[in-house]
Amino acid sequence: MTFVDYEQAHSPVLLWETIDALAVKEDGLYLDLTTGAGGHSERILERLGAGGRLYAADRDPRALELSSARLSAVKSKGSFQMIHATFSQFPDWLPDDEIGAVDGLLADLGVSSPQLDLGERGFSYLNDGPLDMRMNQEEGLTAAQLLVEISEEELTNLLRVYGEERYASSIAAAIIRRRKIKPITGTLELAKIVAGAVPARERRDGNPARKTFQAIRMAVNREQEELAHLLSEIPSTMAQGGRLTLISFHSLEDRMVKQAMRRWQEPCECPRDFPHCVCGKQSLGHQLTPRPLTASTEELERNARARSAKLRAFEFRGGTS
Ligand SMILES: C[S@@+](CC[C@H](N)C(=O)[O-])C[C@H]1O[C@@H](n2cnc3c(N)ncnc32)[C@H](O)[C@@H]1O
Repeated sequence: MTFVDYEQAHSPVLLWETIDALAVKEDGLYLDLTTGAGGHSERILERLGAGGRLYAADRDPRALELSSARLSAVKSKGSFQMIHATFSQFPDWLPDDEIGAVDGLLADLGVSSPQLDLGERGFSYLNDGPLDMRMNQEEGLTAAQLLVEISEEELTNLLRVYGEERYASSIAAAIIRRRKIKPITGTLELAKIVAGAVPARERRDGNPARKTFQAIRMAVNREQEELAHLLSEIPSTMAQGGRLTLISFHSLEDRMVKQAMRRWQEPCECPRDFPHCVCGKQSLGHQLTPRPLTASTEELERNARARSAKLRAFEFRGGTS
């Protein structure tokens, strides 16, 4: 796949809403921590002038290869650097003198279309491939290995919480029954086991394996832990007036983002019945989106994957944690 194919394969969601919310300054410092196919990064880079800088990071080395080719073709006086890292690791690679100086940070969570669609990546319940699902295929347990090690109870819980799957226990039981006979190693093999574990009527509305695949993917890539860590690191890295934009695709993630932004905005955490504040906590800034932004009808017509996307943005007052 060339970078042109890749660019066409992934349509950046809520692109203009994100760029508006970031209010890119020509000489600013920007972090796109999930550059993927580079759609959002490209638009940030275009707006940078002399002195403006963009770090474009991703945990998937294949995404970085392609997005760096795309960014190299952008006409901009600003500069960019590609970083291979998970987004929770950004304080480790960000130079010390840039901590507290970030003017804009973007994380567009979840997976990109090429990851989802290429059978060989192991995310797809439609295209056959090895049951991998790692965004970074150089480290961590594959989905197949996870299904060897996990207990039935943990698997049921994972399908229920991450997959919001009502047939979690029967799907988990079917997976465990199968693995006693042989390890589950293929994507379509898993999709078939799931289809056989749910009532026939569930097979009529979309693919019954969708939620199971989503849940296993989230566990393999430790997506919730990554987000929790990212949120805890953000406030101390932002400049005065720095803007954060987060796009999530799962209700659990959106809730985490919403709660973090509320906490940052809230000046005081004392119990409501205290006569005056004793915690001394200051507000870190304000939400730019009291309600999350969602895709327009026009975007949904072009890109069905934008359906569950929610964008929340926040403006920081200064670099305190
Ligand atoms: C929805 S895509 C981003 C698409 C991108 N905004 C674009 O315009 O092409 C999500 C990307 O985030 C990356 N990703 C997901 N979780 C990550 C994490 N914890 N750390 C770094 N990258 C991550 C994935 O590898 C994927 O490339």
